[in-house]
Amino acid sequence: MTAIGVLASGRGSNLAALIEQLGGIVCVASDRAGAPALDIAAGHGIENAVFSAADYDDRVARDVALADWLGAHGVRLVVTAGYMSLLSPEFIARFRDRIVNVHPSLLPAFPGVRAIEQAIDAGVSETGVTVHLVDEGVDTGRVLLQEAVTIPPGATAEQLHALLQPVEHRLLPQAVSGVAAGLG
Ligand code: GRF
Repeated sequence: MTAIGVLASGRGSNLAALIEQLGGIVCVASDRAGAPALDIAAGHGIENAVFSAADYDDRVARDVALADWLGAHGVRLVVTAGYMSLLSPEFIARFRDRIVNVHPSLLPAFPGVRAIEQAIDAGVSETGVTVHLVDEGVDTGRVLLQEAVTIPPGATAEQLHALLQPVEHRLLPQAVSGVAAGLG
């Protein structure tokens, strides 16, 4: 089974979906001490650690430490599930075509932060979820899976997020499992 490492900054509901639906999650790292995602990992007996930018000279130094830690756990596939730090090119080169991200829009529409608010502000009637490979750009890597979600008229960002999350929890494990199968 492919060893998978998950990076998460927040609530960790996508992490929970990965743990429930897939085997092979060997470790979880966060850029934020106290992220609930770390408690989810700990609750499942999964090794977890914090790599906070403040503890390193720069982003590259942090990402080298993070990549070394993942490597020491035998990780071959990295999933960013609500990970809010941009990965450095050095990190991406080390896991080229083996980093999977979930994003709450139909990329290439609404990349970057606040994708749900961007969709609402744009007044579009449809947005969705994209699972894609991570490259050096912001949400520009190859799309693996996408699914559209209708935006109910007048929906708040919170309401729309609640509609998108079950789709994320289905699409992310599905895409990760496909990439893992390709790695053999
Ligand atoms: C998800 O909506 C994901 O699309 C975005 O950040 C959120 C993370 O949610 N990138 P969670 O921490 O997995 O609950």
